[in-house]
Amino acid sequence: MTNTLTLRRPDDWHLHLRDGAVLQAVLPETARHFARAIIMPNLVPPVVTGAQAAAYRDRIMAALPDGMTFEPLMTLYLTEDTDPDDVSAAHASGLVKAVKLYPAGATTNSASGVRDFDKVRPVLERMAEIGLTLCVHGEVTDADIDIFDREAVFIDRVLDPVRRATPGLRVVMEHITTSQGVEYAKSVDSGLGATITTHHLVINRNHILVGGIRPHYYCLPVAKREEHRLALRAAATSGDARFFLGTDSAPHVDALKETGCGCAGCFTATNTMGILAHVFEEENALDRLEAFASLNGPAFYDLPPNTDVITLTKNDHPVVYPEKIDSDDGPVTVFDPTFPVHWDVR
Ligand code: NCD
Ligand code: ZN
Repeated sequence: MTNTLTLRRPDDWHLHLRDGAVLQAVLPETARHFARAIIMPNLVPPVVTGAQAAAYRDRIMAALPDGMTFEPLMTLYLTEDTDPDDVSAAHASGLVKAVKLYPAGATTNSASGVRDFDKVRPVLERMAEIGLTLCVHGEVTDADIDIFDREAVFIDRVLDPVRRATPGLRVVMEHITTSQGVEYAKSVDSGLGATITTHHLVINRNHILVGGIRPHYYCLPVAKREEHRLALRAAATSGDARFFLGTDSAPHVDALKETGCGCAGCFTATNTMGILAHVFEEENALDRLEAFASLNGPAFYDLPPNTDVITLTKNDHPVVYPEKIDSDDGPVTVFDPTFPVHWDVR
């Protein structure tokens, strides 16, 4: 039986760090295990310009505890007013590694997102020219589309047409949650990747709703049926270079989750690597965890993989992870995978 596993240090290709007190509290949880992360720009107000991304990067680095290293890979929030020249400059300086597309209203803090895709065509064309990746929150927002169908409908109605209209545009389908997402990613040979979260490998929609409503399992895109979870597991553990880890770790303080209208987001930074080792072991794929967490992402973004390593250890007893991370704004609940996790990072 394998009791230790050494991997190149992983990266997180989709992460929410927030700002202020929550940033301060959650950043060490990621920096402890991950070398780099693609930082989501959905602050209030959003990170729209290169100057705002540079200021946010400085706030992140200022919040990093002494002795820890971490490289935030910044993104710009695409709006209908985004200036292609500002995007080019932020990319040329090395500051920005992706632009984030939120359909307006799709998720937390997405009111400034895109309604009319014709308005962002010049930015998308520029991105295709300069090789800058578009990270896509792939859900339609139409009130008449059932929330469980929104990803599949987005692929047909928005993603495929946008990709066809913008040859050469590099796209990451973020946090895919369906077999349709897996199949679409697999149908394209290059220039299209897909991130998968830790929690979507673990929970299906029953976990949110059976036996009581569980706000800490609610995120967007919402977890789907079991067959979709199984499709995500197969993709993540396959070693296929198109799939890589984006935890979508999305902290909200408990007061904003445990309420009549709770925020979407699962906070998984603390125990992601241990949970992933458990999942990959269940799938007899521990030897493919490095591809998913440490190799496929850098290859997509044309960055070198990290040179240092982490070692995961399997303990006889379940690891006691903290239930909550305290912040000056209140506690943030750590994702509970519903099973005991025996793996941790040493
Ligand atoms: C994210 C957040 O809280 O910012 N929430 C989530 O459920 N994933 C937004 C997002 O990535 O959709
Ligand atoms: Zn997210």
